Amino acid sequence: MTAAMDGIKDWRFSIDNQGIAWAVFDREGESQNALGQRPLEELDRIVEEVERGARNGSIRGLVFSSGKDKGFIVGADVREFEQITSEQQVIEGASLVTALFDRIERLPVPVVCCVHGFCLGGGLELALACHWRIATRDEATRLGFPEVKLGIFPGFNGTARSIRQAGALAAMQIMLTGSMLRAGPARSMRLIDELVASPLNLAWAARRAIRANRSSKPIGGWKALLRLAPVRGLVAKKLRTETAKKVREDHYPAPFRLIDLFEAHAGDLDGMKAAETRAFAPLMMSDTARNLRRVFKLSEMMKAQAPKQLTFRPLRVHVIGAGVMGADIAGWCVASGMEVSLQDVNEAQIAKGRDAQKRLFQRKFRTRPLREAAMVRLMADANGRNLSRADVVIEAIVERLESKQSLLKSIEAKLKPGAVLATNTSSIEIEKIAEALADPGRLIGLHFFNPVAQMPLVEVVRGAMSRTEEVGKGAIFATAIDKLPLIVKSNPGFLVNRVLAPYMMSALQRLERGEVKEKIDEAARAFGMPMGPIELADTVGLDVCAHVGRILKLAPAGANKLEQMVAAGKLGKKTNEGFYVWKDGQPEKVKPEQPYDASELERLGRELVDPLILECERCRDEGIVESADLVDAGVIFGTGFAPFRGGPLHFRATEQRSNVAPLRRTAVA
Ligand code: NAI
Repeated sequence: MTAAMDGIKDWRFSIDNQGIAWAVFDREGESQNALGQRPLEELDRIVEEVERGARNGSIRGLVFSSGKDKGFIVGADVREFEQITSEQQVIEGASLVTALFDRIERLPVPVVCCVHGFCLGGGLELALACHWRIATRDEATRLGFPEVKLGIFPGFNGTARSIRQAGALAAMQIMLTGSMLRAGPARSMRLIDELVASPLNLAWAARRAIRANRSSKPIGGWKALLRLAPVRGLVAKKLRTETAKKVREDHYPAPFRLIDLFEAHAGDLDGMKAAETRAFAPLMMSDTARNLRRVFKLSEMMKAQAPKQLTFRPLRVHVIGAGVMGADIAGWCVASGMEVSLQDVNEAQIAKGRDAQKRLFQRKFRTRPLREAAMVRLMADANGRNLSRADVVIEAIVERLESKQSLLKSIEAKLKPGAVLATNTSSIEIEKIAEALADPGRLIGLHFFNPVAQMPLVEVVRGAMSRTEEVGKGAIFATAIDKLPLIVKSNPGFLVNRVLAPYMMSALQRLERGEVKEKIDEAARAFGMPMGPIELADTVGLDVCAHVGRILKLAPAGANKLEQMVAAGKLGKKTNEGFYVWKDGQPEKVKPEQPYDASELERLGRELVDPLILECERCRDEGIVESADLVDAGVIFGTGFAPFRGGPLHFRATEQRSNVAPLRRTAVA
């Protein structure tokens, strides 16, 4: 093997004694490979070298692989996107990359791509330009086009190449949803040509593919015909209808522009390549894409709250309280690979809570042995035998101060030194609970949201006495179970409930004044909220809303609809009736005789979110979380606040820059 190129930093390039060139992507100083400017420039030099070697017969094949454990390529380097300032620059940049990928595809020697771990976005586009793709069957191997989540679509000719390779329906499906595929399904779709059991087999399989001069065969039969007229129009129509069920075009245009591109150009895949670049550029420069990139960076910022200097590595968790929250927290921790014991005073509740996790495990684990192993890792532990082995202990019993205090006091001395002690309280001050402890500095809040499996955020609550190290360990634990931690100063409602409550209460006041609930909910959705506030109140439970309203001193005094509903036992979705009547888990909404006026909905939507924005400003000013960006992060991931708007404070700042006057603030609180 000879090192064949000096001065490259992000790749290792060598040619072995059989004339096979090996390009190992291993970005300097990074834990993952992203396609940024320097690696692409170096790749250009590598391709030039292979072109030369192929011409003079010294190189008979090229193999791409990764030097990182975590994967092949995670995509284009999002950090570099902000340096781009015009559509022209986007077109020029993308054209350089697509020309480079075309040269790889045209190489006269076989080009093999070896995939283990993530192969996403630009990484998959590079793989698709190769002649033969080999992937490991490993659980960690994942392929996909997550671009729509950043408000764009593949821009290095991945649209045309994936359609050619996998057929229109399958390729459009993965580009439109941004979902990730395991190696097996990717092989069935022809995005991958060959599977091997382990990364150790990749080099051997690549060498064999080069010797046999293998070349991938795109999908054939009727699947290949779906991109041609006249069926293409029908396919596009179906895709539009399906996509419109999931996202609104005015909020998220990228998937709709991708369908337009497909409809206009998929008959001629070479023509589609150039059209892709032209359609890609305006999306890349749009506010939506900019804000979605911001959301991506905010999620990275949240993960960075977990302190690197601490060596805490949680593996065992003990959850006390197997109710709605405790059981789901325990199940989630198991699904993330932890060993968990679940305790409750009521043994039947433990059995019910364990049983309820089967659905999650069904979704998370592919094979029955893996699912059975997960059930074994979720241990019933009525007497708390495993308490003293746990790295993290989470209390999730009834929301009563005395109960929590006496439980925590009784277990404190049994904990392992260094174990985290946390409460999942949603409304009691951490300081009050901690008063009962011999070491009150040990207690932190780990506030999960319901439903645990769907909500990405965990508030890591710092009480006045909580030690910084314990808070840091809480953040490490949250990231270890694939949640986004938000370190929050203890105060009523923490961050998320504190800002949600005035938003919901002011919407309920509108109801009191006789406004139409369907219209209120529609306006909030038109603004970009995942669900309107009245439907949300019914979903959360009206008893919970009334309780939070009282704690935050927001509930309107005297007789009101909310209290009346609660008194009548109409608690929302869980009792099948609240403000709405619920059937099969869906609220029954009365359709207006005339569609609501769009500008009126826009005005109302903006008014509805104003109390939330105002409360966010207060939280920022009071330092409830460390920065304004983290307020936005918490509210996006904790409430689903319109991600394409970049967060409540960012949205307000954008309004201020465009001189939009603040609303007259008459809201609650
Ligand atoms: P739940 O009422 O469904 O479950 C509580 C469980 O704790 C019951 O199974 C009960 O048998 C058990 N329990 C009571 N005292 C116990 C003790 N001394 N030792 C062991 N087990 C005991 O309650 P849920 O809704 O799961 O709430 C639990 C905690 O999570 C509360 O602090 C609540 O404020 C908080 N929370 C609830 C959310 C929700 O949406 N339900 C959201 C976020 C936090």
